[in-house]
This record gives sequence, C-alpha cells and structure tokens, in this order.
Amino acid sequence: MKGVILAGGTGTRLHPLTRIINKHLLPVGSYPMISYGIERFRQAGIKDILLVIGKQSAGLYTNYLGSGESLGVNLTYRIQETAGGIAEALNLAHSFIVPGEKFVVLLADNLFLDDLTPYIQSFMKQGHGSARVLLKPVDDPRRYGVPVFDQSRPELISYIEEKPAKPKSNYSVTGIYMYDDVVFDRIHEISRSARGELEITDVNNLYARDGKLEYDILQLWWGDAGTFESLLEAGVRMRGVLP
Ligand code: G1P
Repeated sequence: MKGVILAGGTGTRLHPLTRIINKHLLPVGSYPMISYGIERFRQAGIKDILLVIGKQSAGLYTNYLGSGESLGVNLTYRIQETAGGIAEALNLAHSFIVPGEKFVVLLADNLFLDDLTPYIQSFMKQGHGSARVLLKPVDDPRRYGVPVFDQSRPELISYIEEKPAKPKSNYSVTGIYMYDDVVFDRIHEISRSARGELEITDVNNLYARDGKLEYDILQLWWGDAGTFESLLEAGVRMRGVLP
C-alpha cells in the first residue's frame, strides 16, 4: 500500500500568511502541518509516500523532510506546476502507482485523530476498481462535499454534492480517499468545472454512479485547516500526536 499527500494549492483563505509560506508548512502545534499526514500514513504502515507540492516551496519541503528517513518513511516528490484542482494534482501520482495497486490519498490540510488502519483494512476487502471515502458529521456541511446515501444499499454512497446550498445529510466527505490505479482512467473521464478545475467530487461520483463508492465514518476529531479558525483549533486538537 502506498500513500499520496496533496500539498500544492495556494491557500488564499489564509492570506497574508500564505503569501510567504505554503499552507501545508504553517505551524500546527509545534510541527508544520505536513508532518501530521506523514505520521498518519506511517502509523498505518504506509511507508512509500508521494508528496505533490508547488514549485515555489519545494526547497522548504525537501530541506525539512529530506528523504523521509528520519521519519521512518520513504518520500518521493512531484511538482504541481499550476493549481488545477485536486483530481489534476492526483493525476501526477500516476507513474508512482503500479497497475493493480491500491493506495490512500490525503489532502495535507486535513488533520484528524483517527488511526487509518481499520479503514484501510475495509478497503482491502473491496474489489478492483472500487473506491472508499471517509466521512465526518459537521456543523456546516455547505463548506464540503456532502454524501447522499443509497436507500437500498446503505453501505454505498449514491451521489456527492459539492458545497450544496441545501445539504441532504450532515456529513462532510473528508479529504481522505482510497483508490486503485483505475482512478487515473476516471480522471480522464471528467471535464473541468465552472471554476476551471478537475474536481475530485466528479471523480468520486463516477464510482458512486457505478455502485462502487463505499465509506467509513471517522470516530475522532477531524478538521480541514483551510481557515484561521480551523488552523487554530487544529493546533490545539493535534497536540501530543507527534512527540
Ligand atoms: C475539498 C473537496 C471537498 C471536501 C474537502 C475536504 O474541498 O472538494 O469535497 O469535502 O476538500 O477538506 P476544498 O477544501 O478544496 O474546497
């Protein structure tokens, strides 16, 4: 099992801080944000990790993380030239994944306390060409991708609505996704959204349409540190996760 961490993106909601440093290097407690995703993968036994990063901050990442040896992981880096959406960034992982291999994708601003191991075990039981997402109940689902559950097969998601004005459930689809190499065919099937991006929700909806999108619900705290408020909360919640 391999891991992919998407850490590109401009982080405009965190200006002016992100004018000088990439969002995923901002402090969360005593570590830069990126450290927590690496630790979650290491904890679940995922040691081969690809980091997709922007070119402006690449030197800061390699300077801090190096080969990953001191963290107990093996890091590979890929540069995202322009911000074109999560699915476009994910496509940069294509050559990192061996045909038939399963892998976990993490958005680096998603911080959480759950150990991923049991969810990965559930995904390992799924058939080739299926996918799994992790959900979390939230106060304001309008900020996120929101699942609509299949009425007759409750283990499946039938559709995800991206940032709906009237959410049909109070769950967020978190930025923790599980796929195999079929996802790269799926990415080629979608078109750019109104904001000009390749949306991960459009990719996930192809799986949902075919009855191949399963889920688990995170048990512990989860947050998406994309705003000052959530960044501050993450700093408190993640205390003690790293030594
Ligand atoms: C992205 C996804 C959204 C998901 C969220 C989780 O949104 O598009 O479906 O719920 O990540 O962090 P973004 O934060 O890029 O707007």
